[in-house]
Amino acid sequence: MSDDSLAWLGTDPIPAAPYHDPLWFGLEREAVFRRSWLQIGHVCELPDSGSFIRREIEVLDASLLIVRGRDGEIRAFHNVCTHRGTQLVAEESGKRSNFSCPYHRWSFGTDGALLAAPDFDRFFVDKADCALPRVALDICGGLIFVHLGTPEKSLRDDLGPYATMLDGFPAAQATTFSEYVYDIDANWKLTYDNFQENYHLRFIHPRSGAPAVGEDNPFGYPAKMGFHGPHRTQTIWTNPDPAPKPVQAQSFGRAARFAMADGTAGLHSRDYLALFPNFFILGSPAQPFSHTVWPIDAHRSRGVIRLYWKGEDDCASRRYAREYAMASARDIHAEDRDVIEAGQRGLNSGALKHIHFQAQEALCRHLFNIVYERVSAYRAELAAITPPALALAEAQA
Ligand code: FES
Ligand SMILES: [Fe+2]
Repeated sequence: MSDDSLAWLGTDPIPAAPYHDPLWFGLEREAVFRRSWLQIGHVCELPDSGSFIRREIEVLDASLLIVRGRDGEIRAFHNVCTHRGTQLVAEESGKRSNFSCPYHRWSFGTDGALLAAPDFDRFFVDKADCALPRVALDICGGLIFVHLGTPEKSLRDDLGPYATMLDGFPAAQATTFSEYVYDIDANWKLTYDNFQENYHLRFIHPRSGAPAVGEDNPFGYPAKMGFHGPHRTQTIWTNPDPAPKPVQAQSFGRAARFAMADGTAGLHSRDYLALFPNFFILGSPAQPFSHTVWPIDAHRSRGVIRLYWKGEDDCASRRYAREYAMASARDIHAEDRDVIEAGQRGLNSGALKHIHFQAQEALCRHLFNIVYERVSAYRAELAAITPPALALAEAQA
């Protein structure tokens, strides 16, 4: 991809403060995370009516209850009893016909309606006005997204052509997944950026990443990049002469054969999507990987990594292929963690006013540009309605 074709993204140094400043982080919470579709789960987690999952969205101090109703529809609610605010559900997941509050036993249906409350005729409100607060939810490619503000567009409209791509990714057909969650002492953008550039491949992953680089492309730079609105995509370069270790060749060969047999080997085996703000997914059927990076504060994040599968582990060979894929994802990721945290410590010192992205780090620059635009627009909105000092205080509240 020519550097000129990326000129529209700009070439200026990038301000360093948005990667460590708590004031900036306060603005991002509202400007970015309350105003975007956020990926929080997969339909296979809610197989039956009454199936539910609880998800904590710490960046917005929210706890969500995602439930499949008796009508088969999946809905999202705030996990907050409408009597006096008690969190309704403590379990991470399960199956129930209704949700009863632990405090005074108000009970809610799988559609969020208040079903019954002891001594309700002594209250001064209608049951119909006591339903659980609803949160916008939309599904694409089997993936569940929520929006904690007021969505301007449906999820599919927001994703544009990437919605069709997601439909073709193996995760769309998944019935199960492997997951691991990690905490990291680094800003969410710094953490996420590591997965959007290949510049570091040959230094940080000389062993695990060797099959992905070759003499004519030693950094493993992508074959193609694309952009749509706040989202972006990249096509992984293919080494014409790969030299995987025997065990890699064997395990990925098995995974590829299973993918062919399952019908999950699709068009997009070398594509990935980086969906704004914090979700990343790879189309490879041998390693159908997704990664969500959740901000906790300006310097800390939590990542959720999943590998999606179709069908159960019905033989040792399939089990092996899946375990190997998960182990190698962890292995590669472990190689990244220390340098990301070292980067954060460097930025926290305030020593740098700017950082730099080269043309092959265009996806990182694109993320920064969109965050910057959203935060600037939000600041302008605040300034228009409140004096600047108050606006800043509100942004941090
Ligand atoms: S707070 Fe839930 S029933 Fe009282
Ligand atoms: Fe890496």
